[in-house]
Amino acid sequence: MTSVKTRYACKDCGYISSRWLGRCPDCGQWNSMIEEISGRSGQTALPRGDSPGAMPISLVPVVEEDRFSTGIAELDRVLGDGVVPGSLVLLGGDPGIGKSTLLIQAASRISESGKKVLYVSGEESAQQVRLRASRLGIGSAGLYLLAETDIDRIESAIRENRPETVILDSIQAVYKPDLSSSPGGVGQVRECAAQMMRLAKTEGIAIFLVGHVTKEGALAGPRVLEHMVDTVLYFEGDRHHSFRILRGVKNRFGSTNEIGIFQMESEGLKEIVNPSEMFMANCSREGVAGSVVVSTMEGSRPLLVEIQALVCPTGFGTPRRMTAGVDYNRVSLILAVLEKRVGLHLGGQDAYVNAVGGVKIDEPAADLGIALALTSSFREIPVGRLAAVGEIGLTGEIRPVPQLEKRVTEASRLGFATCLVPGRSGTVPITGRGINILGVETLEKAIETALSL
Ligand code: TYD
Ligand code: MG
Repeated sequence: MTSVKTRYACKDCGYISSRWLGRCPDCGQWNSMIEEISGRSGQTALPRGDSPGAMPISLVPVVEEDRFSTGIAELDRVLGDGVVPGSLVLLGGDPGIGKSTLLIQAASRISESGKKVLYVSGEESAQQVRLRASRLGIGSAGLYLLAETDIDRIESAIRENRPETVILDSIQAVYKPDLSSSPGGVGQVRECAAQMMRLAKTEGIAIFLVGHVTKEGALAGPRVLEHMVDTVLYFEGDRHHSFRILRGVKNRFGSTNEIGIFQMESEGLKEIVNPSEMFMANCSREGVAGSVVVSTMEGSRPLLVEIQALVCPTGFGTPRRMTAGVDYNRVSLILAVLEKRVGLHLGGQDAYVNAVGGVKIDEPAADLGIALALTSSFREIPVGRLAAVGEIGLTGEIRPVPQLEKRVTEASRLGFATCLVPGRSGTVPITGRGINILGVETLEKAIETALSL
């Protein structure tokens, strides 16, 4: 084997040195020198075909992307309607969230459609993967397994077997033997990912990399991976709940505002086609104060979620405020608006707000629902079968939200009798079947309407 020369480069300023230095002599940063291979580190190749030089955009031939399905509709949706051959996809997430499960299921479905898939496991032995696969009831002839951590041997196996899709689980477990640093380090992760990138682009193979999330919440290898790959997906969820959300944060082949929803069951991950129904299934019994349903958007899909609030007098000292699934600062702002614009005396009250089911809601359209839940609990008056949508402004006005029609339609589909929306009463811009749509202009008016239904 020819020996490869390695060198060290500062990740902050790019200073190159032939040996490792604790501190970069150029920018003075400590611990910033990363090992790389001389000359071609981080180098990535363009998609197949040599560049013919600059040309007018109108003359660049349009090549239809030949996407293929993973057989898992929720995953296809997040990828932007299927997998693009030659693309490099990074799937990140906390340990144990279900990354390997999702990808082995996808691998199985892809291989069932007649495409060859190579599943490379750097963390589990082939027997372990096989065991999991048989537990999930999968094992198609087109699905190949390889337990290997040496990236050069992985590349040879890929070239030898010529699969259409490769799954590398995980990028932190593999290493480049030419580098002396240990697997999982920035230099190793970057070099291995670059090698997979070149392979994906030159051979037209779709490669999925599994990446672990560090304690700080970033993908290991300080975001270097996110810059290199075509698509970054995060698999998230609450350990205490079985549902999982697959979210796109970067996608060179589609939009990033789509999500996929799954449920972890004993037979692996199951797709959730009607998420609202799932979240509404164990909705609080009617007639309880402090519970309001909001119609929130996840990508292009509406999702109904129950917001629960509990307001009770503070025992001693400063009032406690706690939130789960909704933004803490947003709740503080809503409490301030309720105090000042509606005249609720919440100063001496503890307030707890929770989005039921372990969902995270980060859009201001949930404001009105949160405010109504807080008021309902404070006044001990239930709100009935009502869904609420609207952002709250600092002057107590209810502001319009995007995609109102979809939100209202979803509420009507699930049998809600009333939906509060932003707008002047009587002149609501939309109509819905079988649902009473009430426009409210101010928070005060909204509370009056909701609590008297
Ligand atoms: P895994 O895919 O190994 O997670 P990751 O690769 O992200 O670390 O999934 C691990 C968890 O999923 C494990 O704790 C058990 C659970 N699980 C199920 O509940 N049902 C199943 O069918 C499988 C395969 C796993
Ligand atoms: Mg795993």
